[in-house]
Amino acid sequence: MSRLIVVSNRVPVPEKGKAAPAGGLAVALQAALKERGGIWMGWSGKSSGEEETPQIKTIIDGKITYALTDLTDRDVEEYYHGFANRVLWPTFHYRIDLAEYGRKEMSGYFRVNRFFAQRLAPLLKPDDVIWVQDYHLIPLASELRKMGIKNRIGFFLHIPLPPADVLLAMPVYDQIIEGLAQYDLVGFQTDYDLANFVGALVREGIGETLEDGYFKSHNRIFKTGAYPISIETAAFAAYAKRAVNNAMVKKAASSIIGHDLVIGVDRLDYSKGIPQRLDAYERFILANPAYQGHVSYLQITPKSRSEVPEYEAMQRMLAEQAGRVNGELGTVDWVPIRYMTRSVARPILAGLYRLAKVGLVTPMRDGMNLVAKEYIAAQDPEDPGVLILSRFAGAARELKSALLVNPYDTEGVANAIARALSMPLEERKERWQKMMDHLLVHDVMEWCNNFMDDLTQVPQEGDHAA
Ligand code: UDP
Ligand code: G6P
Repeated sequence: MSRLIVVSNRVPVPEKGKAAPAGGLAVALQAALKERGGIWMGWSGKSSGEEETPQIKTIIDGKITYALTDLTDRDVEEYYHGFANRVLWPTFHYRIDLAEYGRKEMSGYFRVNRFFAQRLAPLLKPDDVIWVQDYHLIPLASELRKMGIKNRIGFFLHIPLPPADVLLAMPVYDQIIEGLAQYDLVGFQTDYDLANFVGALVREGIGETLEDGYFKSHNRIFKTGAYPISIETAAFAAYAKRAVNNAMVKKAASSIIGHDLVIGVDRLDYSKGIPQRLDAYERFILANPAYQGHVSYLQITPKSRSEVPEYEAMQRMLAEQAGRVNGELGTVDWVPIRYMTRSVARPILAGLYRLAKVGLVTPMRDGMNLVAKEYIAAQDPEDPGVLILSRFAGAARELKSALLVNPYDTEGVANAIARALSMPLEERKERWQKMMDHLLVHDVMEWCNNFMDDLTQVPQEGDHAA
């Protein structure tokens, strides 16, 4: 088997006593790589100030060798905060109104991708397979090709790929598409994302569909496909079962005696629809006064990307909103919303999901959303809770037995909460079983194997002429 080299911006650097960072990419790849082994190259998460740090730092943990590089302050500012998080993230999540396009940030993005290529190239052996992750590193293959690297290189986009009208609003969309065309395999979360990509190429007249997911564009032939990411389903279910013995989960359980628990777990991000969800919950309480004092909504929302102004504004807005709802609806012995901005370790999260009668996952747009899958895996088969899921999460393409909602429709989400809380046991079991059966088969190892099988079968650079 050839050696696997994964490259991503965010790497869950192993640190004693520190929980892995919240975020689907790190969680899923950690699970996939720990069995297969390989090198995981990426940003250390640290800044080296004004000067580049001369060397890559390696850490060996089980079968994974982490190869980490620091970035300078300027790199972090321009590439990560500036272009990745203020242009690509909002645009790809259909929020062109939030995109802040600047030439300095754009050139920083391409410069840091070149830097990653320079740091990666000396580590490579001819038959290594390289798998690049997510929107931070789209131009990486193109930089590696310029350096003469002929290895198979795959790319997986963890976030949505919007339709042409949205994508083309981004001034450098052509360079981004050209960057994708330099890979041998380009994977998306869902068939909708894939169709949007193909649609944009065809509409711009810069690509042609061939058979079996192959595509011809920019003088290259490459494969495309949908590979829905997933979780370690069986292991997560086992965590959840064991979590009843965890002290923090026990505390939570005793604090909700006589209450139904509704749970939301999201990085603090505008794409997650948290303000809209709080509105829907408030509306549910107002429309169903019998639940006052008998339901608790726990929203766990670790802070994320706080240096980006839109995220900072969202933090303030949510704190204010949760405070207002609690002030207006709360009583001496009842707090309607328990709002936390601290991150919770996943084994504990598993136990909290299991305590909750309703999992509220209502992003305005999401590539996949692993929380939806984790909520299902964590349920007690004898008394499972109900998942309320936004139709705009990639997970909705698979978890069709959830209560699917439109997060823009506050009243619809409020009604779904009421329906979920009163759903008969038989219906809950039936819906849950279908989703759990699906997730047991389609877990994160399947995702990794499917992608790797396809990547190792595409013709290697130079084997085909476009
Ligand atoms: N997560 C966590 N602690 C928290 C909140 C979230 O470990 O306090 C994890 C969660 O279990 C999930 C991931 O972060 O595995 C979030 O992935 P998802 O795909 O739902 O969203 P993303 O953050 O990638 O947009
Ligand atoms: C999403 C993205 C990942 C990212 C994660 C956390 O899952 O797809 O690439 O790592 O959010 O965001 P952060 O900016 O902290 O890495």
